[in-house]
Amino acid sequence: MIVTMGTHIAPATVADFHQVLTDHPRYWGERDLRSLHLLALVQEFGSTCLAARGEDGIRGYVFGFVTPDGTGYVHLIATRDDARGTGLGRRLYAAFAEAAARQGARRLKAVTSVGNTGSIAFHRSLGFATEIVDDYNGPGRTMAVFHRDVPSAV
Ligand SMILES: CC(C)(COP(=O)(O)OP(=O)(O)OC[C@H]1O[C@@H](n2cnc3c(N)ncnc32)[C@H](O)[C@@H]1OP(=O)(O)O)[C@@H](O)C(=O)NCCC(=O)NCCS
Repeated sequence: MIVTMGTHIAPATVADFHQVLTDHPRYWGERDLRSLHLLALVQEFGSTCLAARGEDGIRGYVFGFVTPDGTGYVHLIATRDDARGTGLGRRLYAAFAEAAARQGARRLKAVTSVGNTGSIAFHRSLGFATEIVDDYNGPGRTMAVFHRDVPSAV
């Protein structure tokens, strides 16, 4: 099934948080990123933790926050396996940028592993510059770091 219509993006609830953890492989495949899902983000940064809902459940989500220096940091973004390639990831980013801008964000940032070629291509398509940062996650732990300004129109 191709999921395109009727997707509504709104702040994620605690129930949404538990739902996406239950269905974790539908968003992340073989990778186990459950430990990076922090309920504190949903509880304390609720306006920048968003879920995209359709009649068949949560099709994607983005969890992030705005730092005191005005960076909208995207901690996690994922779309469900049957919702990929439909522009939903782009919509989630736009909704996040809008919410972050309302809290004073002037730039966006995200981080992924250097082997996550899909995420790197996705961020490039969305206009992010990619920087490979040695030791970002500690000695020998190189990461890909994405940067982009928040469009002034947002
Ligand atoms: C990365 C991810 C969020 C993209 O979501 P999506 O809903 O498929 O993205 P969209 O359909 O909005 O695509 C937006 C653009 O990115 C490009 N893109 C998305 N995934 C891509 C991929 N794997 N390879 C190449 N390009 C990709 C699309 O072609 C599109 O480009 P265009 O608008 O210029 O045509 C999704 O694949 C996913 O959830 N992956 C698993 C979780 C993950 O790795 N998250 C990112 C790390 S935090």
